[in-house]
Amino acid sequence: MRRKLAAGNWKMNGTSAALSELDALARAFPSPSVDILICPPTTLLHRAAETVRNTGITVGGQDCHPAASGAHTGDISADMLVDAGANAVILGHSERREDHGEQNESVRAKARAAMDAGLKAIICVGESLEQREAANTLDIIGGQLSGSIPDQSTGENLIVAYEPIWAIGTGKVPTLDEIGEVHDFIRNRLERRFGEGVGRSVRLLYGGSVKPSNANEIFGVSNVDGALVGGASLKAQDFSGIIDAL
Ligand code: G3H
Repeated sequence: MRRKLAAGNWKMNGTSAALSELDALARAFPSPSVDILICPPTTLLHRAAETVRNTGITVGGQDCHPAASGAHTGDISADMLVDAGANAVILGHSERREDHGEQNESVRAKARAAMDAGLKAIICVGESLEQREAANTLDIIGGQLSGSIPDQSTGENLIVAYEPIWAIGTGKVPTLDEIGEVHDFIRNRLERRFGEGVGRSVRLLYGGSVKPSNANEIFGVSNVDGALVGGASLKAQDFSGIIDAL
């Protein structure tokens, strides 16, 4: 049985004052029956980890470097995320792929480093609107899955997030059938590559304009084990509504 997961990606939002939202979230869910993860900006990670210490909530990073250390100005290693209190890291988000030219191969190297460090890697895949309209969605997702996911993946260290690029921050959401088609496809690919045991145990998140008002129906789709939430994870009240729907 896969445990449900509500993951919040704060992206490049939040200074110290935002920690009060995390505190409010921890108070709202003193013993959560689902996994709750918040990925704040790296500047807040250590304090965020302290804020949720001994609650059921965990924190994660939004990226990591594939190397353990070295001359990589501005980068953060997986060990540094662990040291700051993280237990997970988002990798290959479309905004990283777009802003920093990340390719599947580098996402895979980062995921390897993250898993070696003991982090859960949340690997993001998703098509652009152009690719969807050209009926290339499954080909694109298939390529991202085989290129970005390392061989050492297990149900414990891998989480896959399906995030159609055109649904991120736009208020547009695929139909439930479209979400189901992609999630079933991802599950099938994981089972084929890693075997049924591992393939069935990896959690699959949907991301893209998830809100309290649409979370319930999205979580009803087969093979949707939770959500990767951007905008609606910034306020404890909104994120609570999504967690309640899980
Ligand atoms: O990582 C989160 C996704 O990019 C979704 O963002 O909920 O603001 O659409 P959003």
